Amino acid sequence: MLVEVFADHESISDRAAEVVTEQLRRKPDSVLGFATGSTPLGLYKRLIRNHEERGLDFSKMTTFNLDEYVGLPPTHPQSYHHFMWENLFNHINVNESRVYIPHGMSDDVDSFCAWYEKQIEDAGGIDLQILGIGANGHLAFNEPGSSLGSRTRIKTLTEKTVRDNARFFEEGEAVPHQAITMGVGTIMDAETVLLLASGERKAQAIRDALEGPVTGMCPATVVQMHRFAHILLDGEAASKLEYRHHGGIAEPKP
Ligand code: PGA
Repeated sequence: MLVEVFADHESISDRAAEVVTEQLRRKPDSVLGFATGSTPLGLYKRLIRNHEERGLDFSKMTTFNLDEYVGLPPTHPQSYHHFMWENLFNHINVNESRVYIPHGMSDDVDSFCAWYEKQIEDAGGIDLQILGIGANGHLAFNEPGSSLGSRTRIKTLTEKTVRDNARFFEEGEAVPHQAITMGVGTIMDAETVLLLASGERKAQAIRDALEGPVTGMCPATVVQMHRFAHILLDGEAASKLEYRHHGGIAEPKP
């Protein structure tokens, strides 16, 4: 695991944008995995800027998003389809036919999930997967108790996640209780995972994920088993770590 700790969320976003930009420059037809939530927004702003000001080319990339709420049409302002087009895809030269986001209105969810897995496989697998982490240790919508070998499927969200996400919905509006999510196993198949976390709210989940025992009760702990997990934190998210992580090793703090 490569863990880097930065002063603030802005610096995490700078570093994440460097990693993604470098990936696309090295391999323009990269398969990227994108995430939603507040954490990657700074990264997406920087990618748009790199496209506008430095001509970063997205036309050959293929993208797969981690998850989507069940029951929300792509046009719903809180759908992850809407989030991705609004915050990234509308502003870069993406090829729409190579953008994949789970479909929350699918009639046959199981077939859809199998199809989604097949698209990832046919694209040659994900080169670089962006990840956030839930305050409860979830990865995408793989909530505590998820199988660490799971593939794309429908999951019921915990009360905590529903409450955490309610802030994005209109007051009184129903917050979905189910989502289609890549499985933990699907995420583990990505060549590199780039996990971003900032703020005190994430400190315990980061402590558990990086230093705790690997367990389905904290799905993010699987980053310890990934062949190359790159973790970008700010000081607050790193504040509960008991070790100083540097250069792929962990030493007790002085
Ligand atoms: P956040 O969500 O980026 O909005 O904190 C991350 C997550 O729940 O996975």
